[in-house]
Amino acid sequence: MSVFQHNILEGKIALLTGGGSGINFGIARKFVEHGAKVALVSRTQDKLDRAAAELSPDGTCARGFAADVRDPDALSAAIAKTIEAFGKIDIVVNGAAGNFLSPAALLSPNGFKTVIEIDTIGTFNTCRLCFEHLVANGGVILNITATQAWIPTPLQVHAGAAKAAIQKMTQDLALEWGPMGIRVIAIAPGPIEDTEGMSRLATPELKEKLESKMPLRRYGHVDEIGDAAVFLCSDAARFMTGTTVVVDGGQSLIGSAGFLDFIS
Ligand code: COA
Ligand code: NAP
Repeated sequence: MSVFQHNILEGKIALLTGGGSGINFGIARKFVEHGAKVALVSRTQDKLDRAAAELSPDGTCARGFAADVRDPDALSAAIAKTIEAFGKIDIVVNGAAGNFLSPAALLSPNGFKTVIEIDTIGTFNTCRLCFEHLVANGGVILNITATQAWIPTPLQVHAGAAKAAIQKMTQDLALEWGPMGIRVIAIAPGPIEDTEGMSRLATPELKEKLESKMPLRRYGHVDEIGDAAVFLCSDAARFMTGTTVVVDGGQSLIGSAGFLDFIS
């Protein structure tokens, strides 16, 4: 059920990297519910086709275009297909990411580099290659970061560094592109249930321990990130830019304490 009264994204076209699953698919679903059309971009065409068909069986409101965000040529082709299908891009969600738990002392240089390339460089590639379309009519970039960006977190040196860089990029792009009519915002979700991310980071036992310490005593739901994303990408948030909105059930308020069980 919608928490908003109106089709507040009517007429908007959104491109979402990582949009075929998890949190980003939840955002895409909410966007479509609120009147937007969406292009889903990730590496796996089959997965994107299934996701798009779930949102829009006849393809009118959702399409999938495969590309690896590390590959600027493939990404440019996916952006061109989005323009061909929908005519413009108003909203870009940078949600593509890779993560796993690894002690820093065992993480290979290529493991660290891979996460930086997908998360941080992939986000820059997408922002940069969509710029010409966003600047045409004014637009919004929504970067998906994580609380590891500022909370010291065991086994997450790669993801923490990647997401911290995205938060800084959010500020710098907001500063440079604000005068051109582009808002740049980030959401830092807390732990969200039934996602690939949390299945990689926490066993059911660790989930219970973390929930027992969180102020709201539960993981979040993809719809709760989706609702925040609808607000931030709509005109209701028209004076917001350069900021990271934390949607985490208060998890960041307990800092590292929530994560220490991961290594005990
Ligand atoms: N622990 C430590 N290192 C790992 C690892 C793990 N669990 N998984 C991968 N790596 C390392 C690999 O060993 C490799 O380094 P090496 O060449 O020194 O051995 C490096 O990371 C790249 O691995 P590769 O499998 O080639 O990367 P990829 O580009 O095919 O896949 C990943 C990227 C590793 C992030 C993969 O998990 C993925 O595709 N994730 C997407 C989904 C996801 O992570 N969702 C959660 C989002 S929060
Ligand atoms: P997810 O479903 O695995 O989402 C990640 C997406 O990124 C996948 O759809 C994947 O699709 C895509 N992707 C990965 N590598 C890619 C690449 N190189 N190029 C293009 N696309 C790529 O996981 P999730 O847990 O929902 O995470 C979604 C976002 O939320 C991520 O940015 C994550 O860091 C963030 N986040 C999650 C949580 C949580 O609790 N789950 C908390 C905080 C932040 P393909 O495999 O098809 O490429």
